[in-house]
Amino acid sequence: MRIAKSVQSLVPYTPGEQPKARSVIKLNTNENPYPPSPLIEKVLASFDLDRLRRYPDPVFRELREKIAEIYHTSPSRVFVGNGSDEVLTLAARAFVDDDEAIGSFDPSYSLYKTLAAIRDVPFVPSPLADDFSWAEPVTRGPDGRPVALFLLTNPNAPTSILYPSELVQAFARSFPGVVIVDEAYADFADSSCVPLAADPSDANVIVMRTLSKSYSLAGLRLGFCIGPEDLVEALYKVKDSYNVDALAQACALAALSDQPWMRRNTSKVLKTREETASELRRRGWDVPPSQSNFLFARPAHRPAAELFEALRARNIFVRYFPGPRTGDRLRISVGTDADMASLLAALQELDA
Ligand SMILES: Cc1ncc(COP(=O)(O)O)c(C=O)c1O
Repeated sequence: MRIAKSVQSLVPYTPGEQPKARSVIKLNTNENPYPPSPLIEKVLASFDLDRLRRYPDPVFRELREKIAEIYHTSPSRVFVGNGSDEVLTLAARAFVDDDEAIGSFDPSYSLYKTLAAIRDVPFVPSPLADDFSWAEPVTRGPDGRPVALFLLTNPNAPTSILYPSELVQAFARSFPGVVIVDEAYADFADSSCVPLAADPSDANVIVMRTLSKSYSLAGLRLGFCIGPEDLVEALYKVKDSYNVDALAQACALAALSDQPWMRRNTSKVLKTREETASELRRRGWDVPPSQSNFLFARPAHRPAAELFEALRARNIFVRYFPGPRTGDRLRISVGTDADMASLLAALQELDA
């Protein structure tokens, strides 16, 4: 069987573990601990099965209108994907030529590097400062290839830190390629770059969102982005005809229509986040100020890798990223108050 050379050597992205047992405390994939909007139950209960017989709306008109209404923009500036991961894959297809490169900060969402490998172009990391604050993005690869697409997670993952939108804007204005601001966690943050995606003078900025985190819908697979019309049109050109199924479109519409529900859940997560961060700091952990639904915390006593395994043995799942920049920390998603109490109780014993 002939497999492309770039795929033979490809190191696939490793998603966080999805343990089978239901009784685990799952703080490893930044899911929301609270249920999605009850409006979705109604949609599912009354969903006309005939809509499954037919193909879905290939250009998700209703959904785009709702997104445009929420973000005060026009539907022609909105694109929807089967999860924001799909939007990223399509962006790598639409905005990067074979002799160009894809860049992002380091550390950041590790899928970006895999996307470059799948697209068979170099990945150019831009090392962040020691405290994970902003560093000037690298815009050329070692071989001189230009970075055509810069994937800028804000707030960043796994660091949890938010960059001011002025820095993002100044960079985007100096950068000839496309900047995708991946705002998967922005509903947990104090500010957003959406206004840049709506500003005609920022013609290279796309802001991307997902329903997986703040809307509690990781299982639905729905992401979207807002940006200049020519870039959005390019994404439409390269997508599969029916990339978002009819059920996902209907459920996403219901979820987006229930902003108060999302806001209530988000506020609960923020309160729990701050309480957990304070308690860990009190115990001597280093916890950068989080603007997301997770903490990127360096333990006070034991190595992070050991703690990760010890927690796992107690059915408490957090995320550990080996490596020079990330290997001394744990990424801990914010769960319910009860989840965090169990975590803190376990750490009391394990990190003594
Ligand atoms: C920074 C970032 N972007 C995108 C995603 C993917 O989101 P989705 O579930 O919409 O594909 C994640 C998921 O963890 C993420 O952390």
